[in-house]
Amino acid sequence: MSKAIVTGAAGFIGSTLAEKLLEQGHEVVGIDAFLPNYCAFQKNDNWNHLHEWDGFTGVVGDLVQLDLDRIVAGTDVIFHQAALPGVRDSWGKSFPAYLHHNVLATQVLLHLAVKYRVKEFVYASSSSVYGQQSTLPLQEKMCPSPFSPYGVTKLAGEHLVRAYHDNYGLATTSLRYFTVYGPRQRRDMAIYRFIDAMAHGREVKVYGDGNQTRDFTFVEDVVRANIAAWQALADGGSGRRTNGEVFNVGSGTSVSVRELLERLGQVIGCSPTITRTPAAAGDVRATLADVESIKTALGWQATTPLQEGLAAQYRWYQQTRPLP
Ligand code: NAD
Ligand code: UGA
Repeated sequence: MSKAIVTGAAGFIGSTLAEKLLEQGHEVVGIDAFLPNYCAFQKNDNWNHLHEWDGFTGVVGDLVQLDLDRIVAGTDVIFHQAALPGVRDSWGKSFPAYLHHNVLATQVLLHLAVKYRVKEFVYASSSSVYGQQSTLPLQEKMCPSPFSPYGVTKLAGEHLVRAYHDNYGLATTSLRYFTVYGPRQRRDMAIYRFIDAMAHGREVKVYGDGNQTRDFTFVEDVVRANIAAWQALADGGSGRRTNGEVFNVGSGTSVSVRELLERLGQVIGCSPTITRTPAAAGDVRATLADVESIKTALGWQATTPLQEGLAAQYRWYQQTRPLP
């Protein structure tokens, strides 16, 4: 049994990861500031589920402001999931908050990880670090060129992770997630919004022409990638031993937003009514992960087909949606 810290544990991916670690018998300290980036109802629900486990301790507060020394001391592994995650909202006056939660908070945590000799540090990075590349699939060796302020902050986080690894020997892995979906998905994200609109007979808002493509990755696959990354840092797990590396975490397939809506129509049993709005600043045209590197190093690959994952998210939505 290990002691793990999961930051952002009230959020979509953090809460799903924390629950899996608890299921596996680890002790988990979850930290979350309950930022109002989407409704408090969802985060409270995620948080309450975690408190059903004896092995869980919840800490509410901002990583930058909390007194974390006693919390980090004695920790084996940190899964750093906390961030402000919206791509399209990161312009203008929002940017200082992105800097605070995505860059400053990451540096504070890395500093403490070194101070208290945390054995492994896994960082939630993002496909947004790539920006608009001229060729697909996106490979880790490409020169990152973020297309949104959010992407700039996630790349800064990766660089901080590398600096702490190179200078202080902190064992790290950065995982570049590709558009994650599934139960508990954030309410500002496309699939949640599309399901909610279709279930209520409302119009679905598509940004731009709808031909932009995304590599959609199921949340449980992303959780498995985090655990595989940890094992590879610790003892090699089912792949080789890794340290200081960056991996794509994607399905290795992609669909357009239009095709996604068709697939959702099949799952829900209705056709969407679509309104088009101008393309959103910061949205890249296409993502598609090259997954060879993570397959070889960690022995990981996504296993959830899109149709199955969409059906799982829709079932969850039906069970949990607040009454209108
Ligand atoms: P989320 O908003 O559901 O979860 C993030 C949580 O972090 C939130 O609950 C928030 O309150 C908390 N938080 C933020 N700043 C904090 C701070 N300073 N101190 C304490 N808590 C703080 O987002 P998510 O979709 O679960 O994303 C998790 C991580 O994965 C983020 O780092 C995000 O950048 C990354 N990511 C997500 C996706 C995706 O498709 N969801 C894709 C790529 C990368
Ligand atoms: C997602 C996450 O929100 C980011 O946190 C993450 O860093 C990023 O993936 C990533 O892969 O790195 P995004 O791809 O924009 O960002 O995810 P969605 O909000 O699900 O949007 C997917 C597509 O649907 C985008 O092309 C967007 O333009 C489109 N969309 C979204 C709409 O057409 N309408 C909407 O109402 C919402």
